[in-house]
Amino acid sequence: YRSLRVALLGGGSVGAQVARLLLEEKEELARRVGATLELVGIAVRDVDARRSVDLPRELFTTDAEQLILGADVVIELMGGIEPARSYILQAINSGADVVTANKALLATHGPELFAAAEQVGAQLYYEAAVGGAIPIIRPLRESLAGDTVRRILGIVNGTTNFILDRMDTERTSLEDALATATDLGYAEADPTADIGGYDAAQKAAILASLAFHTSVPVEAVYREGITTVTKEQIESARKAGYVVKLLAICERLTDPETGEEGVSARVYPAMVSRTHPLAAVHGANNAVFVEAEAAGSLMFYGAGAGGVETASAVLGDLVSLGRRHVVGGPGLAESTHAELPVLEIGAITTRY
Ligand code: NAP
Ligand code: HSE
Repeated sequence: YRSLRVALLGGGSVGAQVARLLLEEKEELARRVGATLELVGIAVRDVDARRSVDLPRELFTTDAEQLILGADVVIELMGGIEPARSYILQAINSGADVVTANKALLATHGPELFAAAEQVGAQLYYEAAVGGAIPIIRPLRESLAGDTVRRILGIVNGTTNFILDRMDTERTSLEDALATATDLGYAEADPTADIGGYDAAQKAAILASLAFHTSVPVEAVYREGITTVTKEQIESARKAGYVVKLLAICERLTDPETGEEGVSARVYPAMVSRTHPLAAVHGANNAVFVEAEAAGSLMFYGAGAGGVETASAVLGDLVSLGRRHVVGGPGLAESTHAELPVLEIGAITTRY
């Protein structure tokens, strides 16, 4: 195999899991890509910080700029606007493709980054930026590209769903549930982004832009967080047969006053009937409903946050990008290999 140099920026909840999987699954990933994915280093703030995963000390560096030089793919998992933005621009301008999970950056500087990538023919992939492990970016960008999306309705923040769920099912306080969500690696570095609805608004801006083939700035997303939701409100909602969920709603609408056609994106805590499928989204899971003219209603569901779960989406992007680098390597259709035999087993009756 030839080798692709992969530079990782960030070794926190998600980055450490990406690094672990890159090292542990190196041979299998090489077979799938047709090239070895060589993790050349991990840029962090403190090389001696305690990590959730045991990783070789020599991989860590504080010199992100040096690490980016010569990389084929740069994975940005530091979060925040700067220096993540500058490092991504450096990576693009030095000829690397980029994978990021940074919705805060994409929602505020997306057009600048995509334009920079387009100018030099680089790719910028971001499946992990919305919905954690759930494949939702690629379905909207590719699978539904020929359809007309009318509405997206979803739970897109794992931390707030975890908190509201704990407040509902275990009568936990918002503060205690947030502390647990932070310990579990779901929350942002500054959890105000989660509980204030900012993270969900950033995701709504990304989803609306993709779904409606336009540019929806995050400032245009109406936003309310969950900080004012009380145990009493959750209790009275329960008695009335409802559950409180932080919803992101993106839709094509006609302005009732002007008659103008346009796009609306809104994030706020809403009462959801206990019989609605969204009411069954527990813990840090997310769910995204997409209503499209030809396809009808589609539902995407799964882990919306968490280090290893999100690492799955990051690695998916990396494998896709890796395949683009390999001329004559395993394409999508040929990416299976003969390592696993097909077992000749008949029907196994069980309960699903
Ligand atoms: P995290 O645990 O806070 O980790 C951030 C990492 O980046 C740390 O290793 C940190 O270094 C490093 N870092 C931060 N600023 C840096 C700087 N200026 N220079 C060098 N290194 C720097 O964050 P995370 O939860 O992994 O999230 C990473 C990204 O993924 C964010 O954009 C987040 O929104 C997104 N995301 C997270 C999840 C999730 O469930 N956690 C899910 C989807 C998307 P130190 O270790 O030395 O502090
Ligand atoms: N803090 C985010 C959440 C991480 O809780 O959904 C996943 O984007």
